[in-house]
Amino acid sequence: MDKIIIEGGHPLKGEGKISGAKNAALPILVSSLLADGWNTYTNVPDLKDIESTIMLLSKLGAKIEREKDTVRINASGLNNYEAPYDLVRKMRASILVLGPLVARLKKARVSLPGGCAIGARPINLHLKGLSRLGASIDMEHGYIEAKADCLKGNTIYFDITTVTGTENIMMAAVLAQGETVIRNAAREPEIVALSDVLNKMGADIKGAGTSKITIKGVSSLKPVSVSIIPDRIEAGTFMIASAATCGDITLTGCEPDHLEAVIHKLSLTGADITIDESAMRVLGSDEIKSVDVKTLPYPGFPTDMQAQFMVLMSVARGLSIISETVFENRFIHVSELKRMGANIKVSGNTAMIQGVRRLSGAPVMATDLRASASLVLAGLVAGGTTEINRIYHLDRGYQSIEKKFARLGAAIKRVKG
Ligand code: EPU
Repeated sequence: MDKIIIEGGHPLKGEGKISGAKNAALPILVSSLLADGWNTYTNVPDLKDIESTIMLLSKLGAKIEREKDTVRINASGLNNYEAPYDLVRKMRASILVLGPLVARLKKARVSLPGGCAIGARPINLHLKGLSRLGASIDMEHGYIEAKADCLKGNTIYFDITTVTGTENIMMAAVLAQGETVIRNAAREPEIVALSDVLNKMGADIKGAGTSKITIKGVSSLKPVSVSIIPDRIEAGTFMIASAATCGDITLTGCEPDHLEAVIHKLSLTGADITIDESAMRVLGSDEIKSVDVKTLPYPGFPTDMQAQFMVLMSVARGLSIISETVFENRFIHVSELKRMGANIKVSGNTAMIQGVRRLSGAPVMATDLRASASLVLAGLVAGGTTEINRIYHLDRGYQSIEKKFARLGAAIKRVKG
């Protein structure tokens, strides 16, 4: 298996470009199942999760062409309604095909995703939503079987805001009969991006980005050409890297409006952030201040940035408290950071971080994407060599992370295993 080796202690300098958003691209590629004909998607990031999605869609009968950051999908030949265990196991977001398959083929058989490193992550709300639209749901042999001759609009109230749950129901409801109202809908920019794409395909969705989304069903959709929005989590990860290494980097191709909570908290730590349309310059301070953070659904501070922010707090002056309220087990990076010299105590969903002067490089590994990203940041800050193992997780969600950091002056390389 490949490894990443980092010699820490170099301040990042220069300019880097942000890729398209993984979590916007996944549902948007899946939305191609809702129409016949060729859809064209540009600014698609080159990631393992995108490969897995393409594999799944082609297994369902779609034709796919890919060249650089452009992916073309034609689902006219959609003929298979099963998402097998092997693919769902690799990527939980495969559950996103459930809604579109029931809408198009009247049935779906999708492997149950099961838990993962960051929590139990049930899909009860996806299923509840689909059954409110009239689908019958059965579970057998580790698979969900959903059937509906005709989906019918209804009001769906989510007890907890769920990002992929909201996306799944939106994609089922666009072709349902009548009106669907999603209450307590997720408000993430990725929901707005999907809604924009579906509306361009001919859907009638209003309210995306608010907690009430109204969808009037239409009889068919047409294919589209769209560009994927910038990845706010990749941008945030690089911003923190600049702040933590006392760097001076400019990120281009960003959407600063999607990063308000991160920009606010980073500024409080002493980083100087200037925004010029889609470019952001982040100038680190040589004295990082401690700042408390609580993760929340958008527009709150993203859980996908929690591990990275913890690295910054590990080298800040004083004590900070980070509370994780979205996932129940998202502190798996803590034990690895401690091995690098961080002073962190965890109690329930709260971590107390007493900043230390310096982290020290060590061999580490993580079992989740953002935890792995936090270890890269820790390696960039630490004295000496850090060796990151199991980088499979990083490749799921960051396009060539080592090349992007190397271009900014980091001493980082991938070693083929
Ligand atoms: N939840 C339920 N029941 C459900 C669905 C969710 O109880 O049916 C709970 C979850 O267990 C969790 C909370 O609701 O405690 C929120 O989970 P959500 O459904 O919003 O998460 P998700 O849709 O599975 C997406 C992102 C994650 C990101 C979360 C939260 C995609 C493909 N994934 O996951 O991204 O952390 O929203 O913002 O969009 C990542 O990119 O590293 C990543 C994990």
